Amino acid sequence: MKSQLLILDFGSQYTKLIARAIRELGVFCHILQGEAPLEEIIVHRPKAIILSGGPASVRAAATPRMADEVLSLNIPVLGICYGMQLLAEEFGGKVGGLFTDGEEGTREYGPARITIENPIGPFASFVSGGDQDVWMSHGDKLTQAPAGFTTLARSEGSPVAAFGNVERKIYGIQFHPEVHHTTEGKRILGGFLFDVAELEKDWEPGGFVEETVAAIRARAPEGNIICALSGGVDSVVAAMLIHKAVDTRLYCIFVDNGLLRAGEAEEVMHSMKGLGLNIRKIDAEDHFLRELSGVTDPEQKRKIIGRVFIEIFDGEAQGISEVRYLAQGTLYPDVIESGGVGGGAAMIKSHHNVGGLVENMKLSLIEPLRELFKDEVREIGREMGIPGFIIERQPFPGPGLAVRCLGEVTKERLERLRGADRIVTEEVSRAGLTTAIWQAFAILLPLRSVGVMGDGRTFEECVAIRTVTSRDGMTADWYALPENLLRKISSRIVNETEGVNRVVLDISSKPPATIEWE
Ligand code: XMP
Repeated sequence: MKSQLLILDFGSQYTKLIARAIRELGVFCHILQGEAPLEEIIVHRPKAIILSGGPASVRAAATPRMADEVLSLNIPVLGICYGMQLLAEEFGGKVGGLFTDGEEGTREYGPARITIENPIGPFASFVSGGDQDVWMSHGDKLTQAPAGFTTLARSEGSPVAAFGNVERKIYGIQFHPEVHHTTEGKRILGGFLFDVAELEKDWEPGGFVEETVAAIRARAPEGNIICALSGGVDSVVAAMLIHKAVDTRLYCIFVDNGLLRAGEAEEVMHSMKGLGLNIRKIDAEDHFLRELSGVTDPEQKRKIIGRVFIEIFDGEAQGISEVRYLAQGTLYPDVIESGGVGGGAAMIKSHHNVGGLVENMKLSLIEPLRELFKDEVREIGREMGIPGFIIERQPFPGPGLAVRCLGEVTKERLERLRGADRIVTEEVSRAGLTTAIWQAFAILLPLRSVGVMGDGRTFEECVAIRTVTSRDGMTADWYALPENLLRKISSRIVNETEGVNRVVLDISSKPPATIEWE
């Protein structure tokens, strides 16, 4: 899809949140690297540009900068944090360090209050003298607006918390409107999009479905398409879009690797059939467990699972005639993180896709969701009538229970873990907490401890309970289940799971821990 608005990313941890906020306001947008060359920018014919924040300081010698010509495009520009300081420097404002140059003031990190002095541009809907709660995160500050620019707001630590030039439609704000702690952040961004840049609303899920279906038909006029279904929301929505476009030319393959949760394989097959998808289930439990036998290293487990998956999928796909395309539910964050756009760090999870097949089998990729965030995919899934229990399903890692079964992955230990995990899921669901929690699951630890059951001594394994909240899986906090629920889960696990005599609770956030244990 074309974007009216581009975000140039200078490496802020919040850049994706800017994109999300803009799309939630009804405007489609893309993220490009902050230093993207002009040719790459003008392909999009942007009507407005946002410069993101970033960890660099404009006062350092080598810092990321936008292409020189960006400001000559004569389109509205909004600089946020580092982006604002870039603009300030470009136009001759004074950027100082809060501590280094003997300047007065405090470093601003976290909540702050700004006073709006001049309600124009993005602030046109505010009143003069009004205070707003905002989120700041900066060490440099602007001590003086550039010539020709007006100071629009100030805070205790920032004499110029926002500035702007009405004629040139260029604005800078020191705080982060995209972070929800900035109470009126959306209103400020909306002010820039609609009052300053006069953009039109062009983004809603319904329009996306029609447009994408047409694009898939154009891209794949003939030949068959194969799609690996995991039963998770991304692959299901991707498959449904393609199914809508090419109907019987789509072949879905669901690999039961024996590492799924209790009842999951049957549930996935049942729910997918209800959606009218042509789906083939491969029972590959023995194959996976054979390959995993004796392996305890987390990374090695992941690699083996990725390789075996591709081998099995490949074998199945060879049996389908005229296969020309491979469909995947790749999302926008994966594209950004793998260096496809923007400046994020490169880190692809190998099993996350079946990309290895593309070269071997000379397939073209179809990734209908590669410009979307997960909550947008959920919205589209709802729009397409996919049942709520699929849409709201908690994320589940590609390598499945193998990375929650610490130590060796055997059928017996998986069964133990599955039993404990089912109890966690059931109890969290009964308490009505499934959607409030990002993920709730059990982990089987490879350590045995002494216990007493009845009159006898036991020496058995231990289960950890993990419940976390998160917006996107990149950071997470542990979720405190009510005490009585924890008691119930703990006693049910020990009473109903053979070989477990102890339950512990994981109270780590991410960072420094990760959500999964391996
Ligand atoms: P971590 O453990 O890195 O997990 O904090 C972040 C989120 O990603 C999920 N996860 C995976 N998802 N393939 C996936 O598709 C994987 O290999 C994988 N590893 C972790 C995890 O469940 C959490 O939601």
